[in-house]
Amino acid sequence: MTQSSNTPPSQIITGKARLAGVLGWPVGHSRSPALHNYWLRRYGVDGAYVPLPATPESFVAAVMGLKAAGFRGANVTIPHKEAAYRLADELDHSARRAGAVNTLVFRDDGKILGLSTDGDGFLASLEACGMLPQPQSRAILLGAGGAARSVAAALQDRGIQVAITNRTQERATALAKALPGVEVLPWNEWEQKLGMFSLLVNTTSLGMEGGPDPLFCPDLGQAAPELVVADIVYVPQITPLLASAGQHGLRTVGGLGMLLHQARLGFREWFGVDPQVDDATQEYVLNSF
Ligand code: ATR
Repeated sequence: MTQSSNTPPSQIITGKARLAGVLGWPVGHSRSPALHNYWLRRYGVDGAYVPLPATPESFVAAVMGLKAAGFRGANVTIPHKEAAYRLADELDHSARRAGAVNTLVFRDDGKILGLSTDGDGFLASLEACGMLPQPQSRAILLGAGGAARSVAAALQDRGIQVAITNRTQERATALAKALPGVEVLPWNEWEQKLGMFSLLVNTTSLGMEGGPDPLFCPDLGQAAPELVVADIVYVPQITPLLASAGQHGLRTVGGLGMLLHQARLGFREWFGVDPQVDDATQEYVLNSF
């Protein structure tokens, strides 16, 4: 890993250190340890954040073990987000709407609180660059997985009308059932209807380096000039979809901002500081790739 010029001073880890981590299987790809430990150093917090590889079979035992060992909580990533939802004693509004949990907080009263910060992290990343659509405007989401549901729920909660389209239409229909008001468009028709929308979000792994179709680049010819095109893929930072949007003169938002913003709430809960997502944070995480 390259150390950037803005690397903060060395980490403090005493016997009283606050502990958290990220549970996933596999977890080696996660950028969360780099990000959280950067913030811990930057804010001089006595703490540590570690990768926690746990198989689906050992997930519950791993969570209980972390709790018993005095951890403050953990992030949860693929494939454990639904299991975390089932395991939590209490859920916040976003977790209930998302049907998944990406952040566990072990409270002092012994209860496990489950949060979903992906959707709000996505909205915050749009807001940070002044591209959050107005209430009543229309958004179209590509995909119907867990990421799509979190983003759709957060957009709806802001009063934005959401349509989704997915290769497997039954999954889109199931998502629309879970989030009443979401409209479903056929996968082979959405490009022609793009002119109706002010936000397009790719929530699939299409366009991701090493993913199912790294060259994924739909036709944006029907886009309205005010369309904002967002991608939750962040490797590469500029996906073929975003590059094409730029060529059409459209405004774009990459996936790195969502990754950084979704991490803030957990950090605040576990470590007691509200961390800033700024250029230095972004540069540090980019250099950790
Ligand atoms: P996550 O929880 O991260 O959203 P997921 O549940 O595996 O992940 O969902 C991945 C999304 O990418 C789905 O919408 C999936 O479409 P299907 O429901 O049809 O599988 C979409 N996706 C993945 N590979 C795809 C491909 N080659 N073409 C079109 N969509 C694809």
